[in-house]
Amino acid sequence: MSSTETTSTEKWSRYWAGDRVAACMADASGSYGDQLGQQWRDWFAQLAADSRILDLATGNGALIHLALDSTIGSSDQLQLFGVDYADIQPWAHLDDHSVDHRRIQFYGRTNIEQLPFAASMFNAVISQYGAEYAAHEKTIDEAVRVLAPGGRLRWVCHHQHSSIYANTCKEIEHAEFALHEARPHEHLRQLLQRQISAGQFIADAHQRTANTPERLAMTAALQACMNRLRASQPASECLDMVLQNLAYLYQHREQHAPTLVLEKVAEVKVELQAFLGRMQALADAALDAAGLLRIQQRLAQQGMVQIKDSFARKSNGAILGVVITATKPLNN
Ligand SMILES: C[S@@+](CC[C@H](N)C(=O)[O-])C[C@H]1O[C@@H](n2cnc3c(N)ncnc32)[C@H](O)[C@@H]1O
Repeated sequence: MSSTETTSTEKWSRYWAGDRVAACMADASGSYGDQLGQQWRDWFAQLAADSRILDLATGNGALIHLALDSTIGSSDQLQLFGVDYADIQPWAHLDDHSVDHRRIQFYGRTNIEQLPFAASMFNAVISQYGAEYAAHEKTIDEAVRVLAPGGRLRWVCHHQHSSIYANTCKEIEHAEFALHEARPHEHLRQLLQRQISAGQFIADAHQRTANTPERLAMTAALQACMNRLRASQPASECLDMVLQNLAYLYQHREQHAPTLVLEKVAEVKVELQAFLGRMQALADAALDAAGLLRIQQRLAQQGMVQIKDSFARKSNGAILGVVITATKPLNN
């Protein structure tokens, strides 16, 4: 595993450890909402009840949930497989499905560019905001290899025309502002360290409000982030996270040992860096017209037929991603 891949794996592992089922556009249930979810359920309903389905870059198994929620979900012959190179936690979210767990298999720390499955094992190879993150040619070649003749491919990929991509570009700017310009985590660390060395970590009200340079710098950094959060549309997820966490740590600092508070402040920075990494990965993965064409050409080179694409949209028309479908011919 290369060092780039390790970093990439860690930023996703942190995310999946955070009690999440789906990556983008999750609804209140934590999974994919109306449009995307219903389209998947409709598509699963067309598959045979004894299908073997492979979900590439499965995360915490959002598509596995949707397959279980579809009309074939109750079939005791359905087999579901999910692969992801992060340390995923999918079983934490599968309790509500009264399903035989032996029919579901997850493989964490597994690269979709090199699948550990025999040829022709699957009736469907699916992906939601996943396959496009990996090297396209290798991933397509592997997907086609493991598909059985007559098997179907359906991937929903990020696209540069989507509202998710537009918001991601804004979040990248917000995260870079917080990490490299305002740096509220760094100013809070300096303030806490000054208070610790001055013996004022636990202080009376007068000492606490003393306007040291560190305190003024921290207040200015927090205010800059707050102003930016208020002006952001939609409200910035990362600025909200940073401000809430740092404010909580400062307000409750006296309940913990000083070293622990400093560790938690450092953790906010690591979380912000991981967030930025995920946003940058999304922006890099999002397809443009040329990238989409290259995927279609590779699928065709690999003998796939009925290769189609269409935009998945919200009810207000906003693009959520591009849906790529293809079929492996029976004689392949
Ligand atoms: C945006 S998340 C989507 C996860 C899931 N499909 C969902 O919709 O919730 C992208 C996922 O791709 C995974 N990933 C990226 N590159 C990968 C690769 N080469 N092999 C396996 N997984 C990969 C990441 O670990 C991450 O879990």
